[in-house]
Amino acid sequence: MKYSFSGVSALVTGAASGIGEATARLLAANGLSVVVSDRDAAAVRRVVDDIVAAGGKAAANVADVSRPGEVEAAVDCAVKHFGALHFAVNNAGVGGDSGPAGEMALDVWQRVIDINLNGVAYGLRYEIPAILAAGGGAIVNMSSILGLVGAGHAPAYNASKHGVTGLTRSAALAYSAKGIRVNSIHPGYVDTPLLGRYDAATRAGLVSQHPIGRLGSAGEIAHAIAFLLSDGASFITGSALVADGGYTAQ
Ligand SMILES: NC(=O)c1ccc[n+]([C@@H]2O[C@H](COP(=O)([O-])OP(=O)(O)OC[C@H]3O[C@@H](n4cnc5c(N)ncnc54)[C@H](O)[C@@H]3O)[C@@H](O)[C@H]2O)c1
Repeated sequence: MKYSFSGVSALVTGAASGIGEATARLLAANGLSVVVSDRDAAAVRRVVDDIVAAGGKAAANVADVSRPGEVEAAVDCAVKHFGALHFAVNNAGVGGDSGPAGEMALDVWQRVIDINLNGVAYGLRYEIPAILAAGGGAIVNMSSILGLVGAGHAPAYNASKHGVTGLTRSAALAYSAKGIRVNSIHPGYVDTPLLGRYDAATRAGLVSQHPIGRLGSAGEIAHAIAFLLSDGASFITGSALVADGGYTAQ
């Protein structure tokens, strides 16, 4: 599937694995120059080398999204290598089984909020000025079905992803008329290393919660993200796009 973009460069965080990696590869295959950003330096190198070997354009950036200075440097990397930044995918995130709210491990709460929510906020803080300077573009923030519905076992993850939903709406209201569309994406459970901690019985239980009868793939979510960034989504901003095999329709 081919997408057309009004812009030349994109920053993808958490781009060294799973959904972020699939997104970086898809955007590069569709002609965008991509900053592959992640805290895993070796995996960043592997993804960049693969994209370049396939004829695409990519630059490596090692950054921890919970550190604002490193997120600023990731944006600078795009401007330095590709002259401007037009698109961003704030995807980096972690799971976090903190236990129910009344028993929550507070170190898990802090870590999940720092990465999943603060990381997206820092992204917006530094990406938006760069995209405005480039003449406009689009941003997709990674939320989840758990940014729309509750999960009693995961208050930190649940709150972080609901936070991303609100942050996205706020940024869309502030910047859509200035030429930046901002949307959130809400995947159901997707078969990536993030689910590696679940045993077979738990995975089967997750599958059974998806009316489509299976988990999603990273590539399926990458296509939804590419669409939201593309010219085909030119009237879509402030939306929460669900890609969940029917999970939240129940
Ligand atoms: N897999 C799912 O079922 C699912 C469902 C809904 C939403 N999501 C969200 O999708 C995003 C990607 O998840 P995935 O399933 O591809 O997981 P993944 O573990 O395969 O990839 C996550 C990537 O983010 C990176 N990362 C983690 N913390 C970081 C940090 N502080 N700074 C920079 N990079 C960091 C990791 O190194 C890794 O490369 C996450 O935000 C996750 O919450 C995943």
